Amino acid sequence: MTLQDRTIFITGSGGVLGSTYVRRMLAEGARVVATDLPGHRAEALQAAHEGNESFRFYELDVGDEAQVTEIFQRVMKDGWEPNVVLNNAAITGEMLMGAGKSFPDFADTTVADFERTLHTNLTGAFMVARQMDRDIVGRYPATLINVASMYALNGAHHPIYDGMPFKNFSAYGITKAGIHGLTVWLAGYWAPRKATVNTIAPGAVFNGHSEEFQRRVGELIMAGRMAQPDEIADAMLFLCSAQSGYVTGQLLNVDGGFSAW
Ligand SMILES: NC(=O)c1ccc[n+]([C@@H]2O[C@H](COP(=O)([O-])OP(=O)(O)OC[C@H]3O[C@@H](n4cnc5c(N)ncnc54)[C@H](O)[C@@H]3O)[C@@H](O)[C@H]2O)c1
Repeated sequence: MTLQDRTIFITGSGGVLGSTYVRRMLAEGARVVATDLPGHRAEALQAAHEGNESFRFYELDVGDEAQVTEIFQRVMKDGWEPNVVLNNAAITGEMLMGAGKSFPDFADTTVADFERTLHTNLTGAFMVARQMDRDIVGRYPATLINVASMYALNGAHHPIYDGMPFKNFSAYGITKAGIHGLTVWLAGYWAPRKATVNTIAPGAVFNGHSEEFQRRVGELIMAGRMAQPDEIADAMLFLCSAQSGYVTGQLLNVDGGFSAW
């Protein structure tokens, strides 16, 4: 039980990784303030943890400035004070595929397509961090974890997506690179107020992918295979815990060695 002193606020918590983090955080004794867009993911998450007194759920669109501006005040009025915040929400390839949409090819990407992803993945993360600055930072020690990707500081391997029902899209990698800029900018800004901020960069997480895709991506990874969501959660729990207190401004790759060849 390493997280008994933690109240963890997480955006986009109903997804593949978010729901895993929530389950593992609760098991480690944390109080979890889960948030997400309304919809089937949010409903499934609430159903999974119904009756657990350490779990609360709030609807939150990270792209909606008015909602973000009031969210921590709402949580605090309800009696909980988050000391860990996870910028986890994102428009992802998984999400688009699940909704039956795919991102256009690069040449056909409109500014509106690009800016929609930018608004959620980067402006949303900025707004959550800014609200954390206003409502939490300096009042008590706190930490922010921004979620990037193995495709933040490394280019996507485009050929592995040939013929697949999903592909890597430009706005994704670009916003994931940008989020680490938020981390390093804030790390020094918040240090005097006893807040740390780090980035986690998960590798390719298995979620029912075909054998052929697993083979192609596995060849790019030292470990030779995709990650299980719980393997990403192992590192996330460390960043959420008091044991990471002297770590700030860092990017932690959890990618089976993908970025280290
Ligand atoms: N799964 C992977 O292989 C992988 C790899 C690297 C990084 N990541 C990153 O990890 C994080 C979680 O990924 P995942 O695999 O669970 O993705 P997912 O698509 O399963 O979940 C994303 C979640 O974000 C939420 N979301 C989207 N737009 C939102 C908005 N405007 N406001 C609030 N919530 C919103 C969705 O409702 C969903 O619950 C993301 O930041 C993703 O980029 C995932």
